[in-house]
Amino acid sequence: MQKIMVVDDAELNRELLYEMLKDEYTVDMARDGEEAIEKLKRDTADTAAILLDLQMPKRDGFFVIEEMRKNGWTKKIPILVISGEYAVEVENQCFEMGVSDFIHKPFVSSIVKNRVRNAMELYASKNQLEQKVEEQERILKEQHHIIRIQEEKLREAKPFNRLMMEYHAAIMEVETRFKVLNEEFSQAYNRNPFESIKSRLKSPASIYEKLERKGFPVSVESIRENLTDVAGLRVICSFPDDIYRLAELFTRQDDIILVQRKDYIKNPKVNGYRSLHLIADVPIFLSSEKKYMKVEVQFRTIAMDFWASLEHKLKYKKAVDETGDIGRQLKACADSIEALDYQMQEIRNKIDGARGS
Ligand code: GTP
Ligand code: MG
Repeated sequence: MQKIMVVDDAELNRELLYEMLKDEYTVDMARDGEEAIEKLKRDTADTAAILLDLQMPKRDGFFVIEEMRKNGWTKKIPILVISGEYAVEVENQCFEMGVSDFIHKPFVSSIVKNRVRNAMELYASKNQLEQKVEEQERILKEQHHIIRIQEEKLREAKPFNRLMMEYHAAIMEVETRFKVLNEEFSQAYNRNPFESIKSRLKSPASIYEKLERKGFPVSVESIRENLTDVAGLRVICSFPDDIYRLAELFTRQDDIILVQRKDYIKNPKVNGYRSLHLIADVPIFLSSEKKYMKVEVQFRTIAMDFWASLEHKLKYKKAVDETGDIGRQLKACADSIEALDYQMQEIRNKIDGARGS
């Protein structure tokens, strides 16, 4: 049942109205304006309508209307003024203050019920309409927001593609330098310092994922500033010492700036992962400028690559405890592979030595 509050100092009026309304509503009562406001403060949400006397001791009906307006309650709760005859000016003043209707004495049950019901229904449909309008405004705002994001993406698309082109240029640049070294070596020493080069541009999805995961802003500038592995190369060598020789020759080139060097061969990861990682600033030459781009180069032997590829495949999206049984087995494989690498290198040294003598 909906709740109606009857505010009147005359007990007789309260009783009369209570009897008329009690079958259809829960009827709450207050004896003056102060009590009415106190009760409303406690549970405005519950109250569906107010029947309000104007002349009361302590605080009168106008006080109640004023307080309700201040608190925004008149938007949700219709006020029906009850009482004897008032001057037209007083009634008009009440309407201007937001009162919904008047119920004049003597109270006639059917009239009281009808007026109360009408006022409540009117408010309900008004509130529904307002809610609909609010909802639509919210949807519009949301759509506007989506359109703005899409606009931004479009505006960013060109710079993003440009940036990817620049990273690609950097990959080509580095690849060429290694190929040059390879050719020189094969002529001079009749052997190749590396077996193969793989390169990859980080996909937009991975770029986005990494920026989000690390809490960086998602923007073209942020990619340039915060990610070092958008352009990635993997140089697969035959022997461990080729790795160091190649890395040295590459970083000694006078326009390559070494940013970071992580030697997971001398200091393998706990899981057994071995590789030499370099991050370098590499110049690319565009029509109107020379620009430095970050490139990540990973050097591994064939055997280390074999291990890393399989380990990555096995662990992909699965949490493997590095200290558990599988972790220990993987680590043991990595250590065997290292031993093999150095054995093979020794054999090569022996053959080279025999050839040399
Ligand atoms: P990321 O955020 O993954 O780039 O790591 P990081 O910034 O700490 O750099 P780190 O040099 O440690 O690793 C760079 C890359 O090396 C990774 O993205 C992987 O491609 C590779 N890598 C590093 N650790 C492992 C490993 O334990 N197993 C395998 N298979 N690859 C690894
Ligand atoms: Mg990385």
